[in-house]
Amino acid sequence: MKGFQLIATGAGIPSRVVTNDDLSRIVDTSDEWITTRTGIKQRRFCAEGEDGGSLSIAAARQALENSGLDPAQIGCVICATIAGRYLSPSNACLIQMELGLPQDIPVLDLNAACSGFVYATAAARGLLEGCGSDSRPYALIVGCEQLSVLMDMTDRSTCVLFGDAAGAAIFRLCDTPFAVDLGARGDMAITVPKGGPIQMDGSAVFRFAVDALPRSLHAVLEKTNQTLDDLDWVVCHQANSRIIDHCVKKLKADPAKFYKNMDRYGNTSAASVPVALHELAEQGRLQPGMHVACVGFGGGLTWGGMAFTVGETLNAHRAEQR
Ligand code: UT7
Repeated sequence: MKGFQLIATGAGIPSRVVTNDDLSRIVDTSDEWITTRTGIKQRRFCAEGEDGGSLSIAAARQALENSGLDPAQIGCVICATIAGRYLSPSNACLIQMELGLPQDIPVLDLNAACSGFVYATAAARGLLEGCGSDSRPYALIVGCEQLSVLMDMTDRSTCVLFGDAAGAAIFRLCDTPFAVDLGARGDMAITVPKGGPIQMDGSAVFRFAVDALPRSLHAVLEKTNQTLDDLDWVVCHQANSRIIDHCVKKLKADPAKFYKNMDRYGNTSAASVPVALHELAEQGRLQPGMHVACVGFGGGLTWGGMAFTVGETLNAHRAEQR
């Protein structure tokens, strides 16, 4: 099996900022409760003219520009989402249309909720190996959610948690180490009926997450013959700061390696991992040659871990423009 390397990132962030204080004017909550229980200070909601489709197109466009690739070199597109613009065409097909991507490639949306980006990356590698060509060893992978339209804004137990965003990445087939660990345990702890609203047994999901996250991380490290010390970054799904803290403690890990940005975006489900990767890259803290693990967990209940290397040409075109 070939490896898979990260070579570009992008993000589509909605313009409307909603703070904890804003929400405390709608439901019986407080900045103090939300901050201490979750680490979230604010989230973004789509404003007029923005939706899951436009965010995912913006994120994909930025990743493609940052890569410097010609659109004709993209060998497959997967958008992980539970909240695309339409049921059909898929968000991935909207991206294909807008970016002028090739027609003879697989283009699809994938639903694995908050584990979606990791699932999509694993699936994209499989598709490239199965139907790609030597001239198109690149996959465009997007995680995108517009959860604000799926929330009951009178339910304080959920409406303070989620936000809208899209993140994108381009991965390339190569020979560097890559491993995935995917799984699911059919369970109704998080349910999103068609049209919403999101319902969640928060404590049950919390217990699941603090078990699944370290297990999945261990599983991918075992497959790549690495230890936590070999990793430069661990990018987990940004559901709750306390979930990450629990795992750091359980793993006796260095907390500085576990990136957090839920304070600014809340829980953006499939978008959280690629948005975090893009931020790290933009801040110059994700460098070529670095070893990274990502872990998603959530609705399904699903989990997904992956370990990969950052390519020498990470966002090379963007770097040239600076
Ligand atoms: O992305 C998918 C994965 N999702 C997750 O990973 C979420 C995992 N779960 C969690 O992050 C946490 O369970 C929550 C943040 C959802 C909840 O935190 P918690 O510490 O488990 O709180 P709780 O549900 O046990 O509620 C504690 C109290 C309750 O009041 P009583 O019954 O003790 O009087 C709630 O009614 O906090 C109350 N509460 C709130 N109070 C103020 C619940 N939501 C709020 C709120 N503001 N927004």
